[in-house]
Amino acid sequence: MSGKNFYLPLIAGIFIFFTTQTIWADTRVEDTFNIETKEVTKRKKAPPKFKLVEFTHKKHNIEYQISCGECHHDKDNNPLDLKLGDDVQRCVVCHTKLKKDKKDRKDIMVLENAMHGNCISCHKKINKKAGDKKGLKGPAPASCGKCHIAVKK
Ligand code: HEC
Ligand code: HEC
Ligand code: HEC
Ligand code: HEC
Repeated sequence: MSGKNFYLPLIAGIFIFFTTQTIWADTRVEDTFNIETKEVTKRKKAPPKFKLVEFTHKKHNIEYQISCGECHHDKDNNPLDLKLGDDVQRCVVCHTKLKKDKKDRKDIMVLENAMHGNCISCHKKINKKAGDKKGLKGPAPASCGKCHIAVKK
């Protein structure tokens, strides 16, 4: 192997390293993931009683044709006009309350209420359209056990 060729893989390696670094600089979001806000400790007590179903983030956006702004909004609750790869703040950044307020059980700044408000209200609408009066049964999961699956011991 001549000296010149010897360095080629190394140069290629450096090139690949730097290009992938730029790709990774964008916010990566998994196509499918479990929404498990680490600040929420309740569910995490060992052994955890429930786990959350996987959330098909990409499928919701592409297949179900839901725009980013239907779920992601700014500090004034205005929908965000985003494109894939854009940074977004996690819900818990603003919906910081991790426990329900006994006096105001519907306080939207409570993370659980924000999550349920987003996911369940849309799912209920879909199920109502599909013919179920209460919106609990149908194509979109709207009852507790469909999203929070009990973990068998
Ligand atoms: C159906 C609702 C919904 C749609 C549509 C949606 N997202 Fe999300 N997205 C979420 C939820 C919920 C999370 C998890 C947030 C959390 O963990 O606090 C999330 C997480 C993310 C994250 C990761 C944030 C982090 O730091 O972990 C990014 C980036 C993101 N979304 C961008 C987008 C973009 C860009 C679009 C449109 C192309 C989009 N989302 C469409 C609900 C949605
Ligand atoms: C930058 C701060 C911020 C982030 C990040 C944020 N929210 Fe909100 N959200 C707000 C504010 C402010 C309101 C309005 C509260 C009010 O009306 O009193 C709100 C309202 C809501 C509502 C009620 C909507 C309505 O119009 O009635 C839902 C549901 C909600 N957020 C869910 C989410 C979810 C899910 C996420 C993460 C994907 C998220 N929020 C991220 C600040 C934020
Ligand atoms: C704006 C509407 C909308 C919002 C918001 C939304 N979904 Fe959905 N979701 C849908 C639709 C549409 C379907 C597909 C129903 C069907 O099969 O026809 C669906 C299906 C699902 C399914 C079953 C099929 C699959 O793709 O896994 C799960 C689980 C689910 N959603 C979880 C969530 C969670 C968790 C959230 C909140 C973070 C959420 N969704 C927010 C519209 C929404
Ligand atoms: C469409 C899916 C969906 C349905 C239906 C649903 N949840 Fe949730 N729930 C979520 C998501 C997403 C979170 C946020 C988890 C996080 O941020 O870590 C959550 C959070 C919670 C939390 C707070 C912390 C924890 O233990 O995870 C409780 C308690 C809870 N849900 C109970 C319920 C109950 C009771 C019902 C039925 C009345 C229900 N949920 C229905 C998706 C759902």
